[in-house]
Amino acid sequence: MNNFEFKNPTKIIFGKDTIHKITEEIPSDAKILMLYGGGSIKKNGVYEQVKTALAKADVVEFGGIPANPEYAVLMDALKVIKEENITYLLAVGGGSVIDGTKFLSAAAVYEGEEPWDFVRKREPIQKGMPFGTVLTLPATGSEMNSGTVISRKETQEKLAFGGPALFPQFSVLDPQVITSIPERQLVNGITDAFTHVLEQYMTYPAGGLLQDRFAESILQTLIEIAPRVIKDPSDYEAAANFMWSCTMALNGLIQQGVPGDWAVHMMGHELTAMYGIDHARTLAVVAPSHYKYNFEAKKEKLAQYGERVWNITEGSIDDKAYAAIEKTEAFFKGLGIDTKLSDYTSDYEGTAEKIAQRFTDRGWKGLGERQALTPQDAEKIVKMAY
Ligand code: NZQ
Ligand code: ZN
Repeated sequence: MNNFEFKNPTKIIFGKDTIHKITEEIPSDAKILMLYGGGSIKKNGVYEQVKTALAKADVVEFGGIPANPEYAVLMDALKVIKEENITYLLAVGGGSVIDGTKFLSAAAVYEGEEPWDFVRKREPIQKGMPFGTVLTLPATGSEMNSGTVISRKETQEKLAFGGPALFPQFSVLDPQVITSIPERQLVNGITDAFTHVLEQYMTYPAGGLLQDRFAESILQTLIEIAPRVIKDPSDYEAAANFMWSCTMALNGLIQQGVPGDWAVHMMGHELTAMYGIDHARTLAVVAPSHYKYNFEAKKEKLAQYGERVWNITEGSIDDKAYAAIEKTEAFFKGLGIDTKLSDYTSDYEGTAEKIAQRFTDRGWKGLGERQALTPQDAEKIVKMAY
């Protein structure tokens, strides 16, 4: 196991009817900007719950943050922050609203001219405006981590960055919010969280016995609750386990002391930037090809995952590893998620070359757990995913 230092300062308030507790977390003299997405919160009662809780507070609203939070829209929100002398941000939404709020937290105190500069530089963000979240969509783990992903249509970019200042101060997780989530987004959430675990697990054996079992338990829980959540999102026990699994999949815990990959996400972000494909679906497109292409380097962990998560007991390490990739792809397909790029666009020729060129231009010479995956490797993997 590698050395590590781990600090996660986000307070989690989990459970039924907990949204009103935000009043205890936000300073009473704060001037709050409440941020939300395209309006789902106005239909499912979350908006009213937040407004009721904040009845005595000084609140300005900013709605309309789109999925894959868009830089231009966030720049409008930044204007409101400056004009209204906002001191506290409250994200009410899924990963996109939370990520947009994280960007704004950093942008609000940024002294440079153009906030996109700090997005591109990807240096750890050390200061930001305080913020909290009310999560409405289990998926990304953004509610308990310090990462964010921002999109910019103008340049077709989608870039991840983060830093110690970008942990939410608190996040309210009321699993009842999932009852209004359309099936498309529910299965996206399951797939995203599942792949987050894989990115931190599917590397090489590193002696992290506990980390491996944490990871496997999250995967097993997601597999177990997936059909229940899809069948009946008002099944509270399933919803609660779904929500907590998604948070635990990417709050830093399972990655401590072990190598991480994240190449699937890096390639997937490009597919969203180019074609607007839902984040989780890009992962389902890239992951099977990624694991086949890197089979030799990853087969021991693939076989362990096959044995422990999918109960594959027959055959050699290679057989189990290969069967594990097939099981993973079948799991995504069983959720109704297509796993080939051509399922999403007919205009895919040249995509792989373009991604390789972007990685080269950005100086991303070596991705993956050994920093050995070159832009040319990425090109081959994306081609396999056509
Ligand atoms: O905008 P509204 O109207 O609220 O509708 C949203 C949106 O259309 C809807 N929704 C959310 N909660 C709902 C609901 N509809 C009904 N009932 C509810 N309770 O769902 C749609 C998708 O929302 P979005 O926030 O975009 O989804 P998600 O949470 O999957 O976030 C995706 C974004 O997060 C980034 C992705 O790249 C993408 O930009 N990620 C962030 C990560 C992080 N910060 O750690 C890690 C991830 O790997 C990921 O990259
Ligand atoms: Zn993800």
